[in-house]
Amino acid sequence: MRMYDIIKNKRDNKELTKDEIEFFVKGYTDGTIPDYQASALTMAIFFNGMTEKETAILTLAMANSGDTVDLSQFENKTVDKHSTGGVGDKTTLIVAPIVASLGCIIAKMSGRGLGHTGGTVDKLESIDGFNTSLTNEDFFEQVKNIGIAVIGQTGNLTPADKKLYALRDVTATVDSIPLIASSIMSKKLAAGSHTIVLDVKCGSGAFMKTPEDAKSLAEEMVKIGKNNGRNMAAIITDMNTPLGKNIGNSLEVIEAIAVLSGNGPDDLKFVAKALATEIVALSKNINTKEASELVENAISDGSAFNKLKEWVVAQGGNGEWIKNPDNFPKAKFCEDIFAENDCYISSMNAEEIGISSVILGAGREKKDDTIDMTAGIILNKKTGDKIKKGDIIATLYTNNESSLKSAKEKFLKSLELSDIKPQEIPLIYEIVR
Ligand code: URA
Repeated sequence: MRMYDIIKNKRDNKELTKDEIEFFVKGYTDGTIPDYQASALTMAIFFNGMTEKETAILTLAMANSGDTVDLSQFENKTVDKHSTGGVGDKTTLIVAPIVASLGCIIAKMSGRGLGHTGGTVDKLESIDGFNTSLTNEDFFEQVKNIGIAVIGQTGNLTPADKKLYALRDVTATVDSIPLIASSIMSKKLAAGSHTIVLDVKCGSGAFMKTPEDAKSLAEEMVKIGKNNGRNMAAIITDMNTPLGKNIGNSLEVIEAIAVLSGNGPDDLKFVAKALATEIVALSKNINTKEASELVENAISDGSAFNKLKEWVVAQGGNGEWIKNPDNFPKAKFCEDIFAENDCYISSMNAEEIGISSVILGAGREKKDDTIDMTAGIILNKKTGDKIKKGDIIATLYTNNESSLKSAKEKFLKSLELSDIKPQEIPLIYEIVR
């Protein structure tokens, strides 16, 4: 078999065979297929797509390209959630302790920030002492003891995805439905949880810009999971506007703590509760109403907050920071952005806001950059809000004073202002089960 012919077949819009797809995944993972041939194939996939059958084969080949996690000792109680990536999306920090406090088992691997989107591992590392690289033994011990552990992706899980993702990131082939579906689902299948709830983001800050594309991606991933014996659902949520008010690592942890303390912004609470409800309903095989009541109670009686504290302390984090978020260090420099006129915010481009927070130091521009955990943005006004001249729209935070100017320019470019109140955009478009 020759890689040349596989590329040619996909270029000519032919369906690839199981042997061809497996040949490619094996060869690219072990280095016998070079980057230039892999990028030609991913570009051909970008333009011509893949059939459902091809995507399913690609997903399984990638899931089996390295180690897989065996969670069978926890029976069918293991649950996982995955977001396709957004700005201000700290829902894992809220959902994981809620569902763990209700008896679901979270043995989870999370990612770091990517491009303009944040990552759970970086956020957790903004908590003093929090260790995201537990040994296998400590990871399983912690899950057994308290029902929750979240670590960074370990060594040899889906090496095919690791290489392909890095390639796609620099060859403009990330935003392809079959490539995203196989990338996400290969990791989820390899990570072993029985119940998987996906948060498929849709809008200016997401890879999927329209509800139609988000739905196709959601349906594809749900089908792949179900065909592999997993309990699956996907919630399509809005990412035209950042979720919540805080963007940036420690700022997002502080906001997650607020939600688990019964406070926090309404949009974030709504999406986090919907995700937790879906996980609890699927995992316990109960209806949405019952699951939603359990989730509400876990927040109001403090058990979800206590689970967060227990989890943070178990992973070496400073529980005092959770009890009193004033302990989180503050950025040295901040700048308010003021409204210049009376008007409405008719839209905020979440991707531009994400990039603005990366400029401030909250994300990486290059792979090896270190993150400023205190950097980010607090939104005081959001899409649909009426603003008056002199109101603070947002505050930028950083330890690098020289980044403020360009971050502010980027932020201002993200705003569309109007005299007319914009139409409301739903927070949740649809649930695919
Ligand atoms: N997240 C992933 O893990 N993979 C993708 O391809 C896109 C988002």
